[in-house]
Amino acid sequence: MVVGLGKPEELKAPDFEKIGSSLTALLNQKKAVNADVAFTTEGMHLKHHEAHDAAARMAQAALLSAYRFDKYLTKEPKDKKPTLKHLAFTVDNPAKAKKAFADAEKVANGVYLTRDLVSETPNILYPESFAAIIKKELTPLGIKVKVLDEKDIVRHGMGALEAVGQGSARPPRLVTMEYKGAGKSDKNVCFVGKGVTFDTGGISLKPGPGMEDMKWDMAGAAVVTGLMKALAARGAKVNAVGVVAIAENMPSGTACRPSDIVTSMSGQTVEILNTDAEGRLILCDALWYAQEEFKPTHIVDLATLTGAIIIALGHEYAGIFCNDDDFAKDLITSGKSVGEELWQMPLNDAWDKAIDSPAADMKNISGGRDAGSAIGAHFLKRFIQDGVKWAHLDIAGVAWSTKDRASVPKGASAFGVRLLDQYVAEFCEK
Ligand code: BES
Ligand code: MN
Ligand code: ZN
Repeated sequence: MVVGLGKPEELKAPDFEKIGSSLTALLNQKKAVNADVAFTTEGMHLKHHEAHDAAARMAQAALLSAYRFDKYLTKEPKDKKPTLKHLAFTVDNPAKAKKAFADAEKVANGVYLTRDLVSETPNILYPESFAAIIKKELTPLGIKVKVLDEKDIVRHGMGALEAVGQGSARPPRLVTMEYKGAGKSDKNVCFVGKGVTFDTGGISLKPGPGMEDMKWDMAGAAVVTGLMKALAARGAKVNAVGVVAIAENMPSGTACRPSDIVTSMSGQTVEILNTDAEGRLILCDALWYAQEEFKPTHIVDLATLTGAIIIALGHEYAGIFCNDDDFAKDLITSGKSVGEELWQMPLNDAWDKAIDSPAADMKNISGGRDAGSAIGAHFLKRFIQDGVKWAHLDIAGVAWSTKDRASVPKGASAFGVRLLDQYVAEFCEK
């Protein structure tokens, strides 16, 4: 086969991602099992480092686009399965390309873990089993994993997380993953993820049609898990901690009710007016715990927090809310270079006021339909301590893809793993 790459002078390293993905699709379509790719950057205006980066990108994209979640397809005919087993690249500088690919492959493995978790069904993946997978996957990599069970959650005064979990027969968990890759460092980064293993809405029940999508309401926590795996596997020189709050949001006789007032770990009280705004409730305790326990300089939280972010940005961008424009810029830059795009959204004191409650320190919804994603962000912001740089990524529109994209087959995208790995590589390690 001869593959056209377009105008050589216009090709940039990221373009090789599309090439690697389409190549893989094409080879499978042709039922190929083994393939060698003769790859030369001759005549291309790539800088020296970009040449092997291009090769590594192509190979990583081949890996990423080959992801499938097919463990429950017991009757799929053999000729429907992809055939491609081996893909080799002949490059100008194999040693350098190999080195670039070594890290890219570890990041891809992190993406695979995230996709497996997000794709897994909620009868199998619930707080306890999710926590057990984290422990099993990350402990061998030298990450210190600590699991807080429902008793620990109550003991620490995490009344908001407790409230969300209390309607389910499957009690909540809070898991921390500590990775120390840098002896001393002026940056101490915390990644915090929303892990709602199924979101029925609770007593504020969601409508039936489409509710199955809420199996991926734990994507934020899965991204944090896959990211920590990637960072540790490639030996990133950073001190980073993952914190995930995991709960199942169910309606039942023990569920929390609209009008309940709970006390969060921070001491602030919250009037729950809509039990379907549960993500911010579990995150407020996770954020507070992360700050008390690990004293981070920077926090990034990831959450499938609001349907409103899909109305605003569709499926092409995740929304970023951030209390520090330089921090936001670094994250946006990192996203661009791996094709996981962020769009900065505004914070405004008027939206902070909108969650004041006459009965408690705050309420968990504004009550209106305006600026729904920003309201969620402002709720979280009330739990960020002075001086901490914080970014909230609302990934509701990008966590699951309904169409095939370069490096992202239909389904769980793992959006955020590559972005934050890149952020660490570019802005924490250097
Ligand atoms: N998990 C949902 C948000 C969501 C919606 C993610 C669609 C992915 C696709 C979240 O818990 C939720 O229910 N948010 C509510 C908030 C509202 C009650 C203020 C929403 O967006 O409707
Ligand atoms: Mn909800
Ligand atoms: Zn939710």
